[in-house]
Amino acid sequence: MMSVPVLLGVNIDHAATLRQARYREAGRTCGQFVEPDPVAVALLAEQAGADGITAHLREDRRHMQERDIERLRESIQTRLNLEMACDKAIVEFALGVRPDSVCLVPEKREEISTEGGLDVAAQQGRIREIVARMNGAGIATSLFIAPDPAQVDAAGATGAPWIELHTGAFANAYHDAAARAVELARLRRAAEHAAQLDLVVNAGHGINYVNIREVLTLPHLHELNIGHALLARALLHGIGGAVREMRARLRGG
Ligand code: PXP
Repeated sequence: MMSVPVLLGVNIDHAATLRQARYREAGRTCGQFVEPDPVAVALLAEQAGADGITAHLREDRRHMQERDIERLRESIQTRLNLEMACDKAIVEFALGVRPDSVCLVPEKREEISTEGGLDVAAQQGRIREIVARMNGAGIATSLFIAPDPAQVDAAGATGAPWIELHTGAFANAYHDAAARAVELARLRRAAEHAAQLDLVVNAGHGINYVNIREVLTLPHLHELNIGHALLARALLHGIGGAVREMRARLRGG
């Protein structure tokens, strides 16, 4: 029997991180020539086979801006997955933009990236309400959770159809074989448990070209969301051509 390939969601946040590093003010409106344009990156990712595009509208707007999300909605042809905190204003924004799915994540301003999973058990009521509103708008909700059985149960009780297992602890433990095995086993148990509850199992955070081999041994995986490793690889592969092109301009080419 042929196994179904795991889908690839490409997280393009760091294209906007690079833009904001230079064009913080202009990037807010996206109304001038500012580069790189994350929408252009998304379209190229789709051409290369991305199954979906993921972007996170953070409360501090450190990378993606509202206009980016709107333009992604207007432009991409696969699926738009909007990562967001359980914040009232962002919920209203999402309902207006209508991504195909939202992924609810915890947010702390001081964190570098989304460092922990959502504590679904501690905010069941609030999450249930958001899930119901998204369901009503035809938007699937995913909950970004640690591979913890209590969180999987809590996620199942909200009515959300999907979870995204946080693979960050596994990725951080990667160079310690014993710790890595422990984290992989936690992920495996959580995936099995979620599948028993009929939750669609996605995973993401810290997945790269090396650790993906073990990640793919997890059962029931539907989609992986990968960002940093892809953007880092794109820089490495692209720098040679970019320099050659500028050298050609210097020579009047
Ligand atoms: N999934 C979620 C919910 C995330 O918050 C992130 C980081 O923004 C990712 C996946 C992608 O993580 P990485 O950039 O480490 O691949």
